[in-house]
Formats: sequence, structure tokens, C-alpha cells
Amino acid sequence: MTRGERRRRAAPAEGVRAAERAARSSAARKGGGIHGAAGGAALAVVVLSLALGLSGRWLLAWYRVRRAVTLHSATPALPPNSSSPAVAPDLFWGTYRPHVYFGMKTRSPQPLLTGLMWAQQGATPGIPKLRHTCEQGDGVGPYGWEFHDGLSFGRQHIQDGALKLTTEFVKRPGGQHGGDWSWRVTVEPQASATSALPLVSLFFYVVTDGKEVLVPEAGAKGQLKFISGHTNELGDFRLTLLPPTSPVDTAPKYGSYNVFWSSNPGLPLLTEMVKSRLNSWFQHQPPGASPERYLGLPRSLKWEDRSPNGQRQGQGQFLIQQVTLKVPFSVELVFESGSARVGGSQALEQLAGSRLTQALENHVEAFRERFEKTFELKKKGLSPEEQTLGQIALSGLLGGIGYFYGQGLVLPDTGVEGSEQKADPVLFPPVPLFTAVPSRSFFPRGFLWDEGFHQLVIQRWDPHLTREALGHWLGLLNADGWIGREQVLGDEARSRVPPEFLVQRAAHANPPTLLLPVAHMLEAGDPADLAFLHRAFPRLHAWFSWLHQSQAGPVPLSYRWRGRDPALPHLLNPKTLSSGLDDYPRASHPSTAERHLDLRCWVALGARVLVRLAEQLGEAKAAADLSPLATSLEAEAGLNELHWAPELGVFADFGNHTKAVQLKPRPHQGLVRVVGRPPPRMQYVDALGYVSLFPFLLRLLSPSSSHLGPLLDVLADSRHLWSPFGLRSLAASSSFYGQHNSEHDPPYWRGAVWLNLNYLALGALHHYGHLEGPHQARAAKLYSELRANVVGNVWRQYRATGFLWEQYSDRDGRGMGCRPFQGWTSLVLLVMADDY
Ligand SMILES: *[C@@H]1O[C@H](CO)[C@@H](O)[C@H](O)[C@H]1NC(C)=O
Ligand SMILES: *[C@@H]1O[C@H](CO)[C@@H](O)[C@H](O)[C@H]1NC(C)=O
Repeated sequence: MTRGERRRRAAPAEGVRAAERAARSSAARKGGGIHGAAGGAALAVVVLSLALGLSGRWLLAWYRVRRAVTLHSATPALPPNSSSPAVAPDLFWGTYRPHVYFGMKTRSPQPLLTGLMWAQQGATPGIPKLRHTCEQGDGVGPYGWEFHDGLSFGRQHIQDGALKLTTEFVKRPGGQHGGDWSWRVTVEPQASATSALPLVSLFFYVVTDGKEVLVPEAGAKGQLKFISGHTNELGDFRLTLLPPTSPVDTAPKYGSYNVFWSSNPGLPLLTEMVKSRLNSWFQHQPPGASPERYLGLPRSLKWEDRSPNGQRQGQGQFLIQQVTLKVPFSVELVFESGSARVGGSQALEQLAGSRLTQALENHVEAFRERFEKTFELKKKGLSPEEQTLGQIALSGLLGGIGYFYGQGLVLPDTGVEGSEQKADPVLFPPVPLFTAVPSRSFFPRGFLWDEGFHQLVIQRWDPHLTREALGHWLGLLNADGWIGREQVLGDEARSRVPPEFLVQRAAHANPPTLLLPVAHMLEAGDPADLAFLHRAFPRLHAWFSWLHQSQAGPVPLSYRWRGRDPALPHLLNPKTLSSGLDDYPRASHPSTAERHLDLRCWVALGARVLVRLAEQLGEAKAAADLSPLATSLEAEAGLNELHWAPELGVFADFGNHTKAVQLKPRPHQGLVRVVGRPPPRMQYVDALGYVSLFPFLLRLLSPSSSHLGPLLDVLADSRHLWSPFGLRSLAASSSFYGQHNSEHDPPYWRGAVWLNLNYLALGALHHYGHLEGPHQARAAKLYSELRANVVGNVWRQYRATGFLWEQYSDRDGRGMGCRPFQGWTSLVLLVMADDY
């Protein structure tokens, strides 16, 4: 994951933002100008170049570019139209906009989108703070889903200063277009708030991209009664904002209304658009009360075709309703699908009021039962607090699932390492992606190696969701068998990524963690999963083969991550973003002669899973082809020869390396890397940490391996990897421990505790603790101690902050990095469930 940029982006100054925007639009222009799939033009170029007798090298380069942005030809892993409302009505609508506090959309390239903004009136002078997208620094929080079943309902709590919001939704199946849904938003004062009750505006909006028809129905005073609409996918529908009520006794409450209707300015501009139109003062005066001023949108419905910068650019429509009133209150928004009502007479009761309350209660009860049945936390003796932690971990992960659609930017593999920097990015074909995300505020998009961990949790709960997600990810495979590691699809996703991270390099890999949920599918043996794997097999095979071939190392059965940073003068250790472990120290001087232990172990795991898969699916030829590789990669002698470092007493990377590197201040240059003596030479890399453990983490060692003991020694030693909060990423004894990689690049994988790797370590301890061998008892003991440390700390931090975090300090357990991070930190649930 390209997370190295995180801190630089943590609180960007406006100047930085502007520079990013400028660079971004130029990068997009550059990419857009290349015409990713302009077959006709490209063919003309070929004909021309043949005519001119251009060299074969040029043609080869052209061919590589084409392959990089051509989708793989294997049958899709998912059946045709699998996201359509006809085939999967239950998944058509969802909270698939993880980067907004509350919103829903359809799984469609041209979705209908709905969302919520809110503002507390008069809390600050000037324009009230408008809340819409999840931001790391906006002061909102904690927030997150208390319940979310990934399918039909959810309840989220959001703290915002003096306000406490609860957002709930329930879907109701029916008809052929994805059925109905209802929202309830409840706003209450914080228990601690003592001052006068705040005046709050909620803004409910609906956005289309041009294909849809929205017809607002205005009342006598120009106020909106409801919105009818029609789209091909949704058929006829109606959206109604119901009158506000008091949350306690459901008595009606007086609300003031405003509306705004315009063309769609582009999704990333919605917040700005509303801010710019919140420019008139209105009076809120319930009967018998004194008036209060508030800032509002226009009072009556009038089409306005302009965007914030005055230019006409929008397609489609943007319709937003503002309701303003005193807390506490509840407001409901009801979406009704026409085809659920066809057949006339059986008038379907609106899912609102007490009916909605009842539906929510039924769902909560069903969720609780299913949760216990699935994970058995109560049965296993976990406390009610721990059960709550597990439930919010699952709900947050499911509530973070998004549906994205768009074109990524790819730097093709030129075949000459490092030279792709000089190439131009090309547009990937438009693709959909249904995926969980690492963080709603900071990484609200798809990340390849995170997703394997996400699906480990999700598949226990709902294997269908996992098939959908894996099927979409495998749909991104290009003709070579490559999948880009960070998927920035669509305007909304793109607007949140700095330009240098928009482009994915087709020569670079990422750990093949999707094979972890695949391995679990094989063990569990669900017939629907096996049918899916049958379809997916050619793609999984192509993906694995690409990894094995493209990342081959200098000697047989060695592997090397491509794309390490060159030895830049300001970096203490050149980063390895493709490994997922960013700044984890590797050989000090990157070279083609190095070999990476973690990658070899990932490939070994991949070969093992692929062989099992081929055998189980009756793919005899593939099984026979892959078996020798799997056997060789599993042979401990080979692993020892390439990666056991006798002088270090552990497994290690091998490369051109010296420990004698330091960052030193230099006049006018800031900190600069200085290489001392001894100079670099080919040797094992002394960087004790997660990488050293990989043969153990991926359970590649036999229980009687002579190397298992030494690995358990460093794992259990508090001078090295053991901390009271989980295993640290880099040994406290390492010279890189806690070190900045440059002046502006604080340590990331250099000591902090990460849940994904702790989960793998726990899985391995659990495994060796159950297999007869000299280390069985020790592994079992370490398992329960590590489990208690990890679960205890994640729980304490959640209690203290209301969030799950990206990583945890190995010194005091504090949550660090971004939050909420309900991606792989949600693995804490499987740890509590002893499920590996
Ligand atoms: C998929 O949907 C399209 C559009 O509705 C339709 O034309 C096509 O026949 C469908 N394909 C299959 C295999 O159902
Ligand atoms: C190691 O790196 C140094 C410094 O870049 C270089 O001079 C040397 O040739 C490299 N050694 C090997 C074996 O690649």
C-alpha cells in the first residue's frame, strides 16, 4: 500500500492542496491525451511505422503498452450482469459511498446517489461548518457503524461537538429494481452539553449524472413535497422527506424548509456548491417561540443551472432539501420503488415511523443472533465489551464497502527496469470495483493487499459478499495478469489522491493476499464458493503466474520486489512500496541482485494455494504444471540456502547492504544520507522484524524445523519483537527502529504494531500450537499471551478514543496513523473468535 505519503498529507496546508490540484489536473490531462484504448488510431500508427520501417523495439514497446491496458481475456469470474438489480436486487442499493458520513448509491456505472450533509447553525460566526465527507481533521468523531450487516440495514453514531447524530437505514426487498429503503437521522444534544439547545440544519440530497429524470413535486408555497423519478435501472421511484418528529415521543416538530436544485456540478464539488448557496438569512420560528436566524438555501424550488465557479458544466441534476430545527429530533427519508407496487391494489405501507422502528429492532436482534452464531464470542467467554468491539469491527468493515467505477492510470512495463518513469501514463479501460476500504476518511478506495485481509473477516459473515469483491478485483486483471495495487476509480476517488499516487505501475506487484480468503474457501468447501472458484481459476492462475515470473529474482526460486525507490540522497533506506511494508528496511543499495524473503514466501503460499485449488477443481494439467514449483518453494533446504542468515540467526533479505548509513544535516540541503564504512557489499540484510518471520507467518516451516525455535525466540523477546501491545514491526534492537526515513517521512513500518501481521502471527502460533512438535507447547502459550495483548490494547484504545486505528504504538499502545481504520484492524474480531 502506498501509505508512505500519509503524514505529509495529514494536515496539508492550502498551498500544498493547490499544488496537488494543479499537478493532478495536469497528470489527468497527460493521461487523458494518450487514449488508452484508441484501437483505430493505434493501428494506424502501426501501419505507418511498418511502412516507415521502424525498429522492432518500437513495436515491442507499443505492444507492451497495449497489453498493460487490455483486460484479460479469460471468462469473468462473476456471471454476466451480476451487479444488476435484476440479478442481485438485494445488493443494488447500499452505503457504497464510504467517504461520506452517510449516503447510498446503486451498484451501477451511472448510479443514483443520495447523501446527507449537516450543519449546526450559529455555533460559529459566519458560515456554519458543513459536514459531508469524512475528513481526518474536521473535528467530527468518533463516528462509525454500531451495526451494519453489509446488506439490508445499519445504524451509525456520529459525535460532532455538541451534537450526537444517529443515522439508520433499512432496505426492503420488492419488485425488480432493488426495492425500497428508508433512512432515519436523529440529532440529539450531547449528554454533557449544558447550553441552549442547538439549531441544526440537515441537508438531504439526490444526485444524478444526466440519464435520469427527477421531477420534484412542489407544494403551494413552493416547498418540496416529494421527488418522483425514473431511470432504466430503477424504474419509477419516489423519494419523500417526512416531517420531523421528536425522537422520544414521536410528536411532530416544527421545521423550516429550504431547497436548491441545479445541474450536477461534479461529485467532488457538491460540498462547495452547497456552501456557496448558503447565503441568505431566514427566520426559524416555531409557533409560540421566539424567532432565530439561520443560513439557508433558497426558500422555493427553482432550477438553477450554474456551478460554484459560475461556469455551466454540469450534467444531470442535484437536488437538495434543507430542514432546520431545534434538537432533539428525527427525520425520515423514504425511497419507494415503483415496481414493488405493481399489481395495484396491495398498497404497500410506507416503511416509516413505528414500522421503521420495528424493522430496525428486528434487524438488530437478527444481527445479534447471527453474530453470535457466526463468531461465538459469548460462547467462548468474551466479555460483553469485547463482543461489542467485535460487532463494531465487523460493522465498520461492512459499512466501508464501496462501489467504484472509472478508469485508472497505468504506467506500462517497458521491460527495462526504472525506465518506465520516462514513459507516459495510459488510461486503463473503465472498470467497476466492489470492495471494502482501509479507511473511510483517509483511504476510501480499493487497496489490493488490504482487500485479502478484509475478505478474511467478511467471508465468515457473508461468503456472497466475498465472492462479489474477489470477482470484481479479478476483473481488473490485465492481459499480462497484473492487478494495480491502488484503485483510484471515478472523480470522487480521484479528488482525494495526490497526483504521484494516481498512477499504477504495471511492473510492480503487491502481496497476493486475495489468496488467503481463497484458501479459506477451499477449507470451508461451500458449494457456491467452489462454483465461483471454478470460474475464477483461470484468472487466479494468470495472476499468480504473472507474480511468479515478473518478480523473479537473480537466482532460481528467488524473488525481488520491483520498484524500490532508487537510492535518493534524502532517504535513509530506499522504500519498497510494492511489498506493502513501505519503509521497512531492506538492502541499503537497491540492485537487481537482491532477493526478498517476504516475496518468496508469498509466492510459495500462492503456489501452495494454486495447486490445492487446481486439484480440488479437477484442473489436472494446471495441478501438474504447478506442483513442481510448489514443492520446490516449500522445500526448507532451498529456503535456507537463499535466506537463512547464520550470522544473524534468522531468515533475512539478501542484497547490497551496509548498516553504516545515517541522515546528517547539510547546509542548504537539510538531512542527507551519508554512507560510511564499511561500504555496501552483498550480504544478508540486518533488519530484524516482520520480514524475518515470514516463513513462520505463512506457515511454511514444518513443526520440527530447526529454525522455528530461533524465530519464536526473537518473537517472544521484548528486546526484539515482543511488546505488551502486540508484535512490533521492527525489532527494538534494530538500528532502524523508530527512525525517520527522511526529514519529512516519519517511521511507518519501523516499530509500530500492525493488526494484519499480528493476525498472521497469531494464526501461525495457533497452527504450531496444534501440531505435534518440539515447539508445540511454547507456541500455544505465546498464542494466548499475544492474543490477550493485541485484543486488550485494541479494546483499550477503542474505549479511549471511539476508533479502530491504522497502527498502534509499541511503546504505549496508543492508536496512531489514520482513523477510523476499519480495514484490516477489524481482524481483531477473528482474533477474539480464534478463527484463522
Ligand atoms: C445483461 O443486461 C443487458 C442490459 O440489460 C442485456 O441486454 C443482456 O442481455 C444481459 N445479459 C445477460 C447474459 O443476461
Ligand atoms: C553496491 O553498491 C555500491 C554503491 O552503489 C556499488 O559501488 C557496488 O558496485 C555495489 N555492489 C554490488 C555487488 O552490486
